[in-house]
Amino acid sequence: MFRPLLLRTITKAINPLTTIIHATRKVSTMSSARLAGKTILITGASSGIGRSCAFEFARANPTVRLILTARRLETLKEIADQIKKEISETTEVLPIKFDVANPEEVRSFMDNLPEGWKNIDVLVNNAGLVKGVDKVGDILEEDITTMVTTNVLGLIGLTQKVVKHYQARGGQGDIINIGSIAGREPYAGGAIYCATKAAVRSFTDSLRKELIATKIRVMEIDPGQVETEFSVVRFYGDAAKAKAVYDGVDPLTPEDIAEVVVFVASRRQNVVIADTLVFPSHQAGAGVMHRRFN
Ligand SMILES: NC(=O)c1ccc[n+]([C@@H]2O[C@H](COP(=O)([O-])OP(=O)(O)OC[C@H]3O[C@@H](n4cnc5c(N)ncnc54)[C@H](OP(=O)(O)O)[C@@H]3O)[C@@H](O)[C@H]2O)c1
Repeated sequence: MFRPLLLRTITKAINPLTTIIHATRKVSTMSSARLAGKTILITGASSGIGRSCAFEFARANPTVRLILTARRLETLKEIADQIKKEISETTEVLPIKFDVANPEEVRSFMDNLPEGWKNIDVLVNNAGLVKGVDKVGDILEEDITTMVTTNVLGLIGLTQKVVKHYQARGGQGDIINIGSIAGREPYAGGAIYCATKAAVRSFTDSLRKELIATKIRVMEIDPGQVETEFSVVRFYGDAAKAKAVYDGVDPLTPEDIAEVVVFVASRRQNVVIADTLVFPSHQAGAGVMHRRFN
């Protein structure tokens, strides 16, 4: 008498839980399944957001095939090994040395891909950097050139090639551009970087309109403050200055942005998460920051 009652009570309590677990599994399986076997090209994959995207895509579905590019080939090889060790031994990873600021490398990139790796499904245009905090008049010419060629010309050049590839296979594929809050809200001491990210934003919006009759999805993700090597690069390797940027705040992690990248790539084909702005909770604008010691 007592036993069946206890059993019924336990079963009643467990049932909703089982339903939730099944539902969660189904949802994650659906988004994971949409990535099955896809070839994903990530620029700037040796560090920060790009590196985290590589891990997150492999976590989401180990059958993805990852083309990881950046200038530091040895680091890319280490990342490839780590993915195989920590996530899935069977995930195929192709590390390629690729400088997006070099027009010749950009022009020939797609043609030089090994056979079996040319059929890209997702492009994550992530490579980018900021140099210095100087104001107009004092900005080093070399830094202007580096930011413009990397953040704008490299991204545009590679996108041109990938769009042609997507069109040639019937008008399908994803382009995910990593912009920045700096492209929406320019700030003093970042004139060139802000201008490059505003250019990315305009380019992305134009492209989405041009491709309206296709199934090519053009998406932009604009991070706020993320702790990566970004500030170290901005301050020419000065780690103390870079660290001070994050004094009294909890910045986003590169994984936070990678999760969004994988989310937009794994929606149903007809869903375009066109434009996303991601802040840590202490930030509400390019210069609107709450610091704990304020
Ligand atoms: N961190 C932030 O607060 C933040 C905020 C908004 C937007 N973003 C954007 O997020 C993207 C990723 O930055 P991150 O924060 O992850 O910085 P990061 O840790 O410094 O990573 C930048 C990546 O870009 C690559 N890269 C730089 N120049 C390149 C070139 N000429 N050719 C190929 N790859 C190049 C670097 O690799 P190699 O050095 O090996 O080439 C590295 O893998 C950038 O577009 C950045 O503008 C960052």
